[in-house]
Amino acid sequence: MRHTPLTRRRLLALSGAGAASLTLPFPRPALAQAKPIKVGVMLPYSGTYTQLGEAITRGMELYIKQQGGTLAGRAIDFIKVDDESEPPKAPELATKLISGEKVDVLIGTVHSGVAMGMAKIAREAGTTMLIPNAGVNALTRALCAKNLFRTSFGNSQVGLATGKAALAAGIKTAVTFTWKYAAGDESVGGFAESFKAGGGQVLKDITVPFPNVEFQSALAEIASLKPDAVYSFFAGGGAAKFIKDYAAAKLNEHIQLWGPGFLTDGVEQAVGAAGDGVKTVLHYADDLDNPENKALRLAFEAAYKTPADVYGVQGFDTAQLLDMGLKAVGGDIAKQDAFHDAMAKASWKSPRGPFKLSSSHNPIQNFYLRELKGGKNVLLKTAATDLEDPTTGCKLAS
Ligand code: BEZ
Repeated sequence: MRHTPLTRRRLLALSGAGAASLTLPFPRPALAQAKPIKVGVMLPYSGTYTQLGEAITRGMELYIKQQGGTLAGRAIDFIKVDDESEPPKAPELATKLISGEKVDVLIGTVHSGVAMGMAKIAREAGTTMLIPNAGVNALTRALCAKNLFRTSFGNSQVGLATGKAALAAGIKTAVTFTWKYAAGDESVGGFAESFKAGGGQVLKDITVPFPNVEFQSALAEIASLKPDAVYSFFAGGGAAKFIKDYAAAKLNEHIQLWGPGFLTDGVEQAVGAAGDGVKTVLHYADDLDNPENKALRLAFEAAYKTPADVYGVQGFDTAQLLDMGLKAVGGDIAKQDAFHDAMAKASWKSPRGPFKLSSSHNPIQNFYLRELKGGKNVLLKTAATDLEDPTTGCKLAS
């Protein structure tokens, strides 16, 4: 196993002790004698977003395995780095992958602030970057770029869909409560935009610093404000703690808890009965009745002994987008313009439903209303169809 110049503390081997680079060990067809495509993967493999990073990695690896271990005849060499969800570390880590490791493609990450730091370096170097989660609006608005693609969502896009669904469910007043950083701010911004436009009233915006999980004073304040609902953006370990604290404070008995689906995806089992009744909106639902979703869920469970969630699906689709770009150039990634054009135009049937990219390279997709019941996110209905995030400030031609 190859060692890289990156420090061992930041490097991660998900499948071995201490190794950081992984050429997927699948049989290669004759065409694959060309050297592997080097893919730098920056994801959180420690901290509150660990589970998200691991699920994305699994989704990508599953897709590649299903293609026989190669994409367009090229082996894929993943160089994985734990970004620790720490924005100040992002530029240095991305630079080491791009300038040091000379990766062909950079994939990452979960945290919006880290993605901003990565994108700055990728843009300067002209390296292709695929974002499998982080929803920071700017990267597919004013800071869009021909080499930057997102397979997940925009933060406001999810909030906006949730605000509309909450209004339709009869919610008239809300308090928002989130981590104070781009993802929380923009998620709340999208929610407030559609909720207020439809006559809803936001009584107060409450925040805690990321990744703080001290929720007690906010819960006391919410109890005194008595809204119809709370809208909260938390995810991963922080979301599980929040849902349990919310129920322990008995707020779930009289104030509905709403959020983007990150609040409940991947933590269904961990929160148990405390999560019953939490309503969320997301571009994915476990029980979507389409062949792609059924196949993905079966394969994911068989491979990893754990159910797929939205993060696994986003990882799967990230590898799928890369595959489509590579196939269009016969595996010759040096043909950058054609590679980018093919990814920009790609559309397919994702486990989440129909998937295509906007002119700024953000998904245009359906959003689903779900309710957590008995440890499962149960699909209630489609809340929005083919919802596109604004491309405000993006100069890429459609
Ligand atoms: C973000 O930072 O953009 C983010 C993190 C977790 C879930 C969703 C969005």
